[in-house]
Amino acid sequence: MDQRRAVRDEDGPPIERSGSVWRIRSLAAARQVLQARHATTQAGFTSEYVPKGYTKHHPILFSDGALHDEQRRKVARFFAPRVVSERYRDLMHASADRLLAQSPTTIRLDDLALRYAVEVTREVVGMTESDVGAMSRRLEKFFNQPPFDITKPGLGRTKRQWAMAAVNGLSPIARYWFADVRPAVRARRKQPREDVVSHLIAEGYSNLDILVECVTYGTAGMVTTREFIAMACWHLLGDDALRERYLAAEERERLAILTEIIRLEPVVGHLYRRVQEPIEVDDGDVTHTIPAGDLVDVHVRHTNMDTDAMGEEPTRLCPHREVARGVDRAGLSFGDGAHKCPGQPLAILETDVLLSKLLARSPRIVTPPTLGWDELVAGYSLRGFDISLGG
Ligand code: HEM
Repeated sequence: MDQRRAVRDEDGPPIERSGSVWRIRSLAAARQVLQARHATTQAGFTSEYVPKGYTKHHPILFSDGALHDEQRRKVARFFAPRVVSERYRDLMHASADRLLAQSPTTIRLDDLALRYAVEVTREVVGMTESDVGAMSRRLEKFFNQPPFDITKPGLGRTKRQWAMAAVNGLSPIARYWFADVRPAVRARRKQPREDVVSHLIAEGYSNLDILVECVTYGTAGMVTTREFIAMACWHLLGDDALRERYLAAEERERLAILTEIIRLEPVVGHLYRRVQEPIEVDDGDVTHTIPAGDLVDVHVRHTNMDTDAMGEEPTRLCPHREVARGVDRAGLSFGDGAHKCPGQPLAILETDVLLSKLLARSPRIVTPPTLGWDELVAGYSLRGFDISLGG
């Protein structure tokens, strides 16, 4: 087993039922669930425990049905591959050049990656009024949560852990509001720009609605990209042939290599859905009916290694592999169906711009990262990854 694979899942059959929880490891079956429009609701990211009814507009991540389709259609204009490439490419280059130029010979990649991801994503979202370093530290605090188990009632937490969750969760959000979101909203109410916050203001979102969306973009967009940058760099530094190929390749091939790395190393390791109307999923010749009320837990690491979808030797890094028709080369690393990540092209291009520059400086690993696990995104974290540049 490759040391970089951040495994936290037991192997098992393609579809496995245990009580009211269904574990899905087949990519085709997982897509059936994720595409069962209107029959499921988001159950990941502790969404079922987020108080509802205070917001006027449903948050994009937790919303479902026709309203959600419309929300998605409207924000698509900020995330389409052509828009990302034309509008944000220069910003990515400028940010990567500056951060690398300012860095000492030995850099802590996970810190630099966070700063870079925040700097780029906040332009797209429209939260540019605060200090980037301080904003990055505030975002990290969102993840300081007591443990939980999504498959258990009350998330399996004790009352004390719930009290801690309230304190640990609300105070960083309050700080984020005052320091990052409120100044951004004020500036854009006076003078709208071409970004997500200005769009939300134009749509009549309240301050609270905008805050909730900004928490989603901060966690779903900035923090995930940070982890991926570190993981992709670790793969490329650990494989001389792959790194040489990456450095010599055109952009198209580099993006294919990064997409293959994220297939093998999904940052979001589990996708959860609550079934609202019975749905049918196929497992070979057998059809299962998942009843309303049950929880589906999609094991992304397993779906992405499904030979039916990904072809031969699914654990091998092979950027030009033959995949089954209609299957995304990233597997389900960016989800599928109504909630599929709108930030996929942004995240991959952003990673490529930074890593192309960094790897061109003959880096060497000083300290490999410590692999951790984050319950909120059900995925890995890499910390303490020190690299020396210009070696
Ligand atoms: C490597 C980086 C990233 C990864 C691995 C990632 C992964 C994901 C996944 C798996 C989902 C679907 C969740 C589900 O179906 O339950 C998602 C949704 C989302 N992502 Fe990303 N994402 C990344 C980067 C970004 C970026 C850069 C942005 C935007 C700036 C972004 C914005 C969002 C939003 C708004 C949603 C919610 C969409 C919806 O529910 O309709 N993500 N992301």
